Amino acid sequence: MPTLKIDDQEITVEPGTSVLKAAAKLGIEIPHYCYHPALSIAGSCRMCLVEIEGHRKLEISCATTAADGMAVHTDTPAVKKARKDILEFLLINHPLDCPVCDKAGECDLQDYDYKYGSSHSRFPKEDKRVRPTKAFGGNIRYVTNRCILCTRCVRFYKDVVGEEVLFVENRGYRSEISVFPGKELGDKLDGSITEICPVGALLDEDFIYQARVWHLDHAKSVCPGCSAGCNIDIQTQHNKIYRIRSRENQAVNQHWICDDGRYIFHKFEDLERIESPLKRAGEKLNPTNWEEALSIIHDRVVLIKKSDGAKVIGAVGSVFASNEENYLLKKLFKEEIGTDRLYVYTGLFDGEDVTYKNGFTIRAEKAPNRRGAEIIFGKIKSDLWKTIDKGEIKALYYINADKDFKLTDAQKNILKKLEFLAVQDFFLSDIAKLANVVLPGSYFAEKTGTFTNVQGCTQRFTKALKLPGLAKEDWAILVDLGRRFNSEWKMLSASDVMNDLAENEAAFRGISYFKLGDQGI
Ligand code: SF4
Ligand code: SF4
Ligand code: FES
Repeated sequence: MPTLKIDDQEITVEPGTSVLKAAAKLGIEIPHYCYHPALSIAGSCRMCLVEIEGHRKLEISCATTAADGMAVHTDTPAVKKARKDILEFLLINHPLDCPVCDKAGECDLQDYDYKYGSSHSRFPKEDKRVRPTKAFGGNIRYVTNRCILCTRCVRFYKDVVGEEVLFVENRGYRSEISVFPGKELGDKLDGSITEICPVGALLDEDFIYQARVWHLDHAKSVCPGCSAGCNIDIQTQHNKIYRIRSRENQAVNQHWICDDGRYIFHKFEDLERIESPLKRAGEKLNPTNWEEALSIIHDRVVLIKKSDGAKVIGAVGSVFASNEENYLLKKLFKEEIGTDRLYVYTGLFDGEDVTYKNGFTIRAEKAPNRRGAEIIFGKIKSDLWKTIDKGEIKALYYINADKDFKLTDAQKNILKKLEFLAVQDFFLSDIAKLANVVLPGSYFAEKTGTFTNVQGCTQRFTKALKLPGLAKEDWAILVDLGRRFNSEWKMLSASDVMNDLAENEAAFRGISYFKLGDQGI
C-alpha cells in the first residue's frame, strides 16, 4: 500500500486511491467541482490542482493516483494562484446573482470564491454572456448562465441511472447542457441532479424561491416511502417542510433518494389531521381530552375481557409504525392484557423492485418497516377480517399510520360486528371514521423512532415538526395507555422504549439510539 505525504502529513492508502481522496482522509480540503465520489472522473474543472514534488507542472488531484513516496502540497503560492485563476475564469461569465439564487448558502462557487478567490475582478466592465434558462422537464430548471460545465449531471445519468440523457451541446464558449434529442427527463432519480450540481444551475421547481437555505432547520430522518429506508435530511422552517434531501449512507442509499421520497411530504399536507382525541356519540365523533379517551379504552377493554376473556381482544400493529410503537403495542396487548390476537397492517406492493446501474434500488414494497414488524410480531397473520367476521374478536385496537389507507365496503361491514374499536392514527382515515375512540398520533416527520429496512438495517428517524393540537408521538400514546394497565411502565422517551425493546427482543439486543448513530446498524 502506498505511503505518501500531503502537506507534510504521512498517510498510507489503498492502491489506486486518488490524491484528492487521500487528502480528504487527512482532513485536508482540496476544492473541486467536477469530482464527485459517486461518479466517474472527468478531470475537467482544474479546481483541484496540487503541487507534487518532482513534477514539472501542477497536477489535478482527482485524477492523480497516490504513489509511494509522493510528496504533495496543497497550499503553495502556485496552487493558490491556480485556484484564483480558475475561479476568475469561471466568474467571467457567471452572473453575480447570489441574492436571488436558490443555491446561495450551499454553493461551491460562492464558498470557494470566498475562501480561495480574489476580492476583485480584472474584467468588471465586460458584458457577461447571457443565455436563456431551460425547462428540462419534471421539476428541473436549468439556469444556463450559472452552469460551470462540470458535467456532474451528464455523468449522473450515465453512471448512476445507466442511460445517457444529458450532454454538452456546442463547443467552447457556446457550450451548455442539453437533453439529448429524442430523450426526456422523467426518471425517479431526476431530482438528484439538483443536489449534485455544485452551483445554482439545476434548480428544483418545487423549492424555487421558497426559502433561504441558511434559515432551514435540519432533522436526520429515514424515508418511509418504501422498504429501502433511504437516509434523508428533512429541512423545515416555521414548522413546515420545505424540502427533503438525501443523506449519504453507503450501505443503504449511497448518495441518493428517489423523487417519491424527495416529495413525499406533500402527500401528508392535504390529509384531514386529527388534532384532539375523539369519542363517538351516535353517528358523530366529538373531541374529548386524553384523560377521558384513555379511560374509555381502558374500561371497555377491561369489561370485555371480564365477560369474554382476553382472547376476544385484538390489536393491529403496522408496517408503517416504528419498531418502538409495534413493540409497545405487543407489550401492552400480550403481556398486560393477555391476548395472542396480534395482527399487522401490511400496506401495498407496487410493481417490482427497480435497481439502477449503480445498485441503488427503489423497492416495490411501499412501507418502511415490514422487517421490523416481522421481528417483533413473528409471522404476520392474515386472518384478521375472517376472525372479526366470525365474531371471535369483540374489541380491536388499530394502529394505521399509512397515508394511503383505505377500507373496502366489505371490511367496513365486518368492522360493524365489533363491540368496541379504538384507532390510533394521524389523520381521519377510513378506519378512524368508524372508531368508538380515536387517538391523534403523528406521521414520520413529527416523531422519533426506528425502522428496520429490507436489508435488516435498523435506522433512527428524528422529529422535524411540532405536533398539531393535542396530537402526540405514537410511542407516547402507547406508554400513556400502557400505564393505565400497569403503573410500572416508566418509559419517558422513544430512546427509553428502544432500551426496553433491546432488553426483551433478541434481534434488537445491544441496540440503543447512541449505538445506532446516524447510519443505523
Ligand atoms: S448544470 Fe450543474 S452539474 Fe450540470 S454541468 Fe452545469 S454546473 Fe455541472
Ligand atoms: S427508494 Fe424508497 S426509501 Fe428511498 S427515497 Fe425512494 S421511496 Fe424513499
Ligand atoms: S475536481 Fe479535479 S479536475 Fe475537477
